[in-house]
Amino acid sequence: MLKSYSENANHNMRRPVVKEELVDYMRTHLQQPQGHLATIAAFAREHNIPIIQQEVVAYFRLLMQTLAPKDILEVGTAIGFSALLMAEYAPDAQITTIDRNPEMIALAKENFAQYDYRQQISLLEADAVDLLSNLDQAFDFVFMDSAKSKYIVFLPDILKNLKKGGVIIFDDVFQGGDIARPIEEVRRGQRTIYRGLHRLFDATLNHPGLTASLIPMSDGLLMLRKNEDEIHLLD
Ligand SMILES: C[S@@+](CC[C@H](N)C(=O)[O-])C[C@H]1O[C@@H](n2cnc3c(N)ncnc32)[C@H](O)[C@@H]1O
Repeated sequence: MLKSYSENANHNMRRPVVKEELVDYMRTHLQQPQGHLATIAAFAREHNIPIIQQEVVAYFRLLMQTLAPKDILEVGTAIGFSALLMAEYAPDAQITTIDRNPEMIALAKENFAQYDYRQQISLLEADAVDLLSNLDQAFDFVFMDSAKSKYIVFLPDILKNLKKGGVIIFDDVFQGGDIARPIEEVRRGQRTIYRGLHRLFDATLNHPGLTASLIPMSDGLLMLRKNEDEIHLLD
């Protein structure tokens, strides 16, 4: 088991937000990753590295083919599984992906060297907190899959760099269902994430310049479309 994940395994990964039998059904019936993606997914399972779940993989295949984004930003590379998936299903895209964990970065580099056949992926090795404020690039698809409490902190910079009509997906926004409970019922150690996610929802779900959807898939996805050139978030 890798050091970083044996210590920080996300317990919400094992708390499905829809009926367990439906989760099992989706995970056994939706097409399994093939080729190098299957190899990387097996490695992630073996080492307890949280990568996107099977139903999200299937959704991303469809999204990439439908939206056909040209410029993708990902925050949270881990070992490169989702970046390589997006590269495969959006063959015209250039993908910038960010991670700060040296163990993950080393493995992602190996995987990109071996499997990024069309040289689509650039890995930025830094904390997104430091990188995003200086970012000046126009993206049409952003996948946020990093520390959940920071989503709301990153949002203004992400929106600034998102094209009008562009889409953002935030992964793991339901906290295994905690998000719908009063804060007193949430474990103390999870409350910073809880507050951060509520601030994210308050800032986006009813914003007139955004179209928002919450998708009860895996541990919940928040999907936003930017409808105006500039978005001013409400406090
Ligand atoms: C859930 S994993 C990403 C999984 C990957 N997207 C996939 O599905 O294959 C989250 C990753 O985000 C990284 N991360 C968390 N907070 C970060 C931050 N502030 N800046 C950069 N990377 C961060 C962690 O190091 C970890 O590798």
